[in-house]
Amino acid sequence: MNRLLAISVFTLGLSAFAQANPTQPAKLGFTPSELRATLAAMPKGDSVRGKRLNQALMCASCHGETGVAPSRNWANLAKQTPAYTYKSLLDYQRGGRLENPRARLMQAAVKGMSRQDMADVAAYYASQPLPERAARSNARTEQLARHGDRKRLLTACASCHGAAGQGGNNATPALAGQNPAAFTRTMLDYREGHRATDANQGMRQFAQRLTLQEINELATYYAVLE
Ligand code: HEC
Ligand code: HEC
Repeated sequence: MNRLLAISVFTLGLSAFAQANPTQPAKLGFTPSELRATLAAMPKGDSVRGKRLNQALMCASCHGETGVAPSRNWANLAKQTPAYTYKSLLDYQRGGRLENPRARLMQAAVKGMSRQDMADVAAYYASQPLPERAARSNARTEQLARHGDRKRLLTACASCHGAAGQGGNNATPALAGQNPAAFTRTMLDYREGHRATDANQGMRQFAQRLTLQEINELATYYAVLE
């Protein structure tokens, strides 16, 4: 059997499997309306309890005691918007975010968490400061982040993520202070379609329109914003 044929037989097999298992939809991400309803029902978070959970559930071993990861490769959670942290934890729990083997670590970590637990850790991380960093800026990257690029239908990152990368409505994450390696990896996951948790599919499209160099420069730009 030639290779192409083998692949299509395999793919057909997979779609037949998906049809035979209606409880296993191909995509477990939130739809925009589901996301709105989920955020509207988000419990009020208790940051004191969240701090305890960060230790007790071992989140701190990877994300740090205050949500600042000890390795620059792993995601910082400090100062993240509570809605985005909450949504991300639900994405992992629902199996909607399995873009890479690292996401499986998270799927295991959130297994027994209740929605209240998620809201509590989200409140804790949001209350924690980012580490001090020296500011550095690059005019071209700043232009792209703040104003976008009409020719490529690239909306300004700032229009959703905020002028200071502080995050926005509807579970739009803060980007300020994120580890550059985690930022770049995430953008590439969107670009390749491995990560499809963006309810409006915006990030997948934007990531496809950026060059790798621009992604790396945006990662550095946001890492030093405060
Ligand atoms: C073994 C290490 C490890 C442990 C333990 C761990 N995490 Fe993570 N976490 C990661 C990695 C790696 C990622 C990025 C995974 C990916 O690419 O999807 C991540 C991602 C996240 C994200 C999404 C960040 C973003 O910017 O999208 C949140 C929120 C999070 N973790 C919270 C937690 C909480 C809460 C706990 C404890 C219940 C926890 N993590 C335990 C390693 C860990
Ligand atoms: C139309 C609004 C919008 C615009 C414009 C936008 N984003 Fe996003 N971005 C989002 C939303 C919403 C999410 C969360 C999606 C999800 O849950 O997967 C997100 C997620 C991200 C993430 C993942 C963060 C994390 O911690 O996992 C990164 C990185 C990111 N955006 C960077 C950018 C950059 C760089 C630009 C500009 C080139 C940009 N975004 C433009 C709405 C937007």
